[in-house]
Amino acid sequence: EALRNLSTSDFGLLSSVFRLSQNKLTFAAEFYIDTMSRYVSPSILAADFNYLAKEIEKVNNSKAGWIHCDVMDGVFVPNISFGVPVIKAVARVAKKPLDVHLMIVEPAKYIDKFCSLGIDILTIHQEASQYLQRAVFQIKENGVKAGVSISPHTPVNVLSEVIADLDVILIMSVNPGFGGQSFIENTYRRVGEVKEMILKTRSNALIQVDGGVNLENAGKLFDAGVDILVTGTTIFKSGDPVKMVDKLLTSK
Ligand code: DX5
Ligand code: ZN
Repeated sequence: EALRNLSTSDFGLLSSVFRLSQNKLTFAAEFYIDTMSRYVSPSILAADFNYLAKEIEKVNNSKAGWIHCDVMDGVFVPNISFGVPVIKAVARVAKKPLDVHLMIVEPAKYIDKFCSLGIDILTIHQEASQYLQRAVFQIKENGVKAGVSISPHTPVNVLSEVIADLDVILIMSVNPGFGGQSFIENTYRRVGEVKEMILKTRSNALIQVDGGVNLENAGKLFDAGVDILVTGTTIFKSGDPVKMVDKLLTSK
């Protein structure tokens, strides 16, 4: 809130103090995300769908930064999860920014639709996008933050021509399609590579990691430069999501 009330010159001063470009701080202000901090985005794929509203209420009452919604089409990934009706229902009860991860082919066809559902971040896969740069701008033109995700086999340099335009880079630490998989260890190296690209291009992109995140690797990932950790199983199968979010945020 304080950031919102700053005068433009104080805002400029603050951005230089934090060595951040203005729009990174703006992004931070809009999302109350202080880029020096740690954030968790619980994936509802692991939630109990018999009580989805209750599960989201637990996240609303936690220190989670965003709510992660995994949309899967059974073509881009060998699994089908949920789509527009569920995102609409989640948007009605969520009190945190909605972070939608499209694991679908031809995502550009659905950008306008998903952006119209009251979501805050829309992430598409580089591997599924023939015209990635155009799709990123289509998301931004809808007033939604644009994310691009890369699967574990995709070299990070595929992002080099769009990185300056991105708000979020989602590095998959499992092969997309399922919750409950094991973390792929070379993710740490890839986080470092993306961090370097961000600094070199003066991009404002936040780094997000998704898949197999737990109390063993969360601290190390944050220390490696990750801004937001997505985790489903660790939170929703913990018995106490509110406490687990705290543990992840303070993990060493
Ligand atoms: C996998 C999804 C992830 C997954 C995370 O394709 O993108 O968000 O739901 O689940 P866990 O934390 O259980 O690996
Ligand atoms: Zn995801």
